[in-house]
Amino acid sequence: MKQYTIAVIPGDGIGPEVINESLKVLNRISQLDGTFSFRFDTYPWGCEYYQKTGEMMPANGIDILRPYDAILLGAIGAPGVPDHISLRDLLLKIRHDFDEYVNLRPVKLLSGAPCPLKNAKPGDIDMVFIRENSEGEYSGQGAWLYPDSPQEVVIQDSVFSRKGTERIIRYAYEMARSQHKTLTSISKGNALNYSMVFWDQIFKEVGKEYPDVETHSLLVDAAAMFMVRNPSRFQIVVTSNLFGDILTDLGAAISGGMGLAAGANLNPERKYPSMFEPIHGSAPDIAGKGISNPLAAVWSAAQLLEFLGYPQWSARILNVIETMLVEKKGLTADLGGSASTVECGDMVVSLLG
Ligand code: NAI
Ligand code: MG
Repeated sequence: MKQYTIAVIPGDGIGPEVINESLKVLNRISQLDGTFSFRFDTYPWGCEYYQKTGEMMPANGIDILRPYDAILLGAIGAPGVPDHISLRDLLLKIRHDFDEYVNLRPVKLLSGAPCPLKNAKPGDIDMVFIRENSEGEYSGQGAWLYPDSPQEVVIQDSVFSRKGTERIIRYAYEMARSQHKTLTSISKGNALNYSMVFWDQIFKEVGKEYPDVETHSLLVDAAAMFMVRNPSRFQIVVTSNLFGDILTDLGAAISGGMGLAAGANLNPERKYPSMFEPIHGSAPDIAGKGISNPLAAVWSAAQLLEFLGYPQWSARILNVIETMLVEKKGLTADLGGSASTVECGDMVVSLLG
């Protein structure tokens, strides 16, 4: 029997609550399948760890994680620890050091999921965001000159390398080709006259190798408007780190909310482990109450199964989530139900088998 080793970083706030449910679901699936199993090793890294040790994870944390098949992460962030430290020293470090340059975020309105758009039906909202995840606006480069003086200047640099831009755009073209979908590139070349002009140029250049793929290019502001007015025009979407971060929260809002939004950080070459996480944060406002929605974390576990080569199990999980939404069974408060986090996870497990 094949055994996968998974590093689990539950993190802060609701992270541990929601991750527990995705572990239950993965264990159940390995039982049902019978050809593979999981070994989960849990690491208590995050803000509490920081408050005890002064670091978000041990100095050799990356070496500890490297041998794993994949990483499951809950959420990171706690009041009292500056977000730029918690995010940068753990999440962004893992994404960067493991060259997880693809951030894959499905934006799909399942039947029964709440949608604030008046006329949208399931099927109208069914896109995949491919967000550049290794450089761009989140490169962390810049300078802070003459602090606390009248001459104070801050510079936040964006970094768009040819290698980094080409590989994310190529990944998107490959997905559009293999799934026979349209590809939309979102940029802002009119205002960002270096980075985004370059992005648009690479999008055209790489596109010459994919004459069979129908493409569209949108400015990010117009794209935000169209996601609300006409979301069905998007299928596969490729965009930069910052734009993808913002637009996928909008995507979550139109497809059931943060409790249903999953994301995968992929190293497509599989040289390093990829990391799977719900896109929501640690939700300190509801942490510890046992009412957080675990379905985003469960959906990210579905993404993990797909990445490991079990698309049928990934589809099965989405099916179960859809059944719960349609039949209004086992849903947490954010989706209008009254189930606890654990009851919601139990419902997934029971409907699976
Ligand atoms: P958040 O996503 O934690 O919460 C936003 C709102 O959505 C809150 O009202 C929360 O209760 C609700 N919410 C989020 N996930 C939910 C779930 N599973 N079930 C039910 N309701 C849910 O974003 P916020 O408040 O901006 O950030 C809180 C902390 O999380 C900060 O420290 C932030 O830096 C961190 N964060 C971490 C992320 C990560 O680890 N990937 C991503 C985003 C934020
Ligand atoms: Mg975000």
